[in-house]
Amino acid sequence: MPRTSDRGVSVDPSVVVEDVHKDFKLRHTHSIKETFVAAVKRKPLTTDFHALDGVSFSIAQGEAVALLGFNGSGKSTMLKLISGVLTPDRGAVRARGRVAGLIEVGAGFHPDLSGRENIFLNAAILGMTKRETEARFDDIVAFSEIEKFIDTEVKHYSSGMFLRLAFSVAIHTEVDVLLIDEILSVGDEPFQQKCLARIRELHGAGKTLVVVSHDLDMVSNLCERGILLREGKVVFDGDSKQAVELMRR
Ligand SMILES: Nc1ncnc2c1ncn2[C@@H]1O[C@H](COP(=O)(O)OP(=O)(O)O)[C@@H](O)[C@H]1O
Ligand SMILES: [Mg+2]
Repeated sequence: MPRTSDRGVSVDPSVVVEDVHKDFKLRHTHSIKETFVAAVKRKPLTTDFHALDGVSFSIAQGEAVALLGFNGSGKSTMLKLISGVLTPDRGAVRARGRVAGLIEVGAGFHPDLSGRENIFLNAAILGMTKRETEARFDDIVAFSEIEKFIDTEVKHYSSGMFLRLAFSVAIHTEVDVLLIDEILSVGDEPFQQKCLARIRELHGAGKTLVVVSHDLDMVSNLCERGILLREGKVVFDGDSKQAVELMRR
């Protein structure tokens, strides 16, 4: 029996991030000639840029957390580390159960395959068997509202259509942790509302959510907790409304 906190969420951690560091190399040269000249002059060819600089937090099962911060503060990098798309240079990231990341529109989709084929591909990436996917196929297509284009190659899809399909697959899989990066801003208003309602349902069903969005009022309503990043460091971790206040100041 998992223990529960006073807010009714399980206190068994779902995601644990321990002193995570992630550097990216910034190149200073753009051609072979420049590289050669820089090497001869013994100038550095790259510098390390600290995208994440000693980040630690733990998310309990069933918590909804808003990851906040200005552009370039490290939010997407953090989500990619949780989903396993990236690995940390230092520190550790652990996530329990199936993690579904809606991280980049179109990630996990193959342009030359149809929407139908991509549903199976994407679901497999999320850990579903062919049979499980077949059983949910109709629901996935119905939620996406792109029935007419389901046999069209996805390279002809708009970003909004991508979003619909990717979102629909993710929410019909047996996920434990759902990561959402910005993508809610891609769709049109009615679809956004439908997604939001579904995300609330998943949260109600005890799924763990980590959400990044420009819509600060939406995320602070959806999520009880906010983690504010600034230049790759956690500067606040607590009530989401307070986190948003701090960010706006
Ligand atoms: N693959 C990459 N190569 C080099 N720099 C990167 C890469 N990904 C992210 N960065 C840099 O790391 C910083 C943090 O990026 P990101 O996590 O995308 O921030 P956010 O999502 O908060 O806007 C930014 O300065 C960005 O330019
Ligand atoms: Mg980002």
